[in-house]
Amino acid sequence: MLCASLAYVVSMFLPAFFVKAGLHNAQREGKIIVGHRGAAGLAPENTLAAIERGIEAGADMVEIDIHLTSDGYLIVCHDQTVDRTTDGEGRICDMTLAQIKRLHVLNAWGQAIDVSLPTLDEVLTLVSGRCRVLIEIKRTGSLYQGIEQKLVNVIAAHNAQDWVVVQSFNDSVLFNLHHIAPELLLEKLVVGKLPGLPLIIDGISIVKFDYDKYDFVQSFNFYNHALNAALIDEIHAHGKQVKTWTHEGPEDQPCWQQVDGYITNRPDLWSVAH
Ligand code: G3P
Ligand code: CA
Repeated sequence: MLCASLAYVVSMFLPAFFVKAGLHNAQREGKIIVGHRGAAGLAPENTLAAIERGIEAGADMVEIDIHLTSDGYLIVCHDQTVDRTTDGEGRICDMTLAQIKRLHVLNAWGQAIDVSLPTLDEVLTLVSGRCRVLIEIKRTGSLYQGIEQKLVNVIAAHNAQDWVVVQSFNDSVLFNLHHIAPELLLEKLVVGKLPGLPLIIDGISIVKFDYDKYDFVQSFNFYNHALNAALIDEIHAHGKQVKTWTHEGPEDQPCWQQVDGYITNRPDLWSVAH
């Protein structure tokens, strides 16, 4: 509890430590543009429509969040509950797929529309290798026992190993995935690194940070206000990518020029011709 509170307090003050950096049009070339929650600024987040809009906008990747239903299906939704994004209420882990599929997604005006929360299976069918999919498993505690194996099974059923990447704040999720599917591309989500200390804010806790521990991940995906140029250089020197979240357009700051990718609600504002 103390650790969680300290992490929260420190994360509130982190932006004050760092300078803002601008990004110019010419410097967007070569960056990985990731549509956040599909493209949450263009259609209701984490829906098939948002994912399609992200692909149409030229995103290199679309990011989604997954949860496990009581009968073992992977549902695409940001929150643990359906309360904010649908006309229903309750935790996904307490509901069956059939119960969730009866709910209606809310649009930007809070109106229920004729759209349901997609399954991961539906998302992978829709994308079908047209871009990469960055799948986030949220901090799960004991709620989602076995979610890593279920995810690996769905990816295999779609033969999607080459175009799916998994990210998590949660170390045990990443370690489990690396153990059961060492070929899977993995990325570590980070809120911020404590200045001068080998510690990172890892969602709601502070954990030890060293490069050996994370030698199997390909990218560190940082909260955009909690970076600095020296840290980006240090991560690159260890052969890892850096991506930042969550942006709207390129003019919202800070946008670190040295990073490899930007996770954005509006990939249409970033994408250059492919
Ligand atoms: O991809 C990074 C980002 O998704 C983490 O934050 O809360 O939008 O899942 P959140
Ligand atoms: Ca996410």
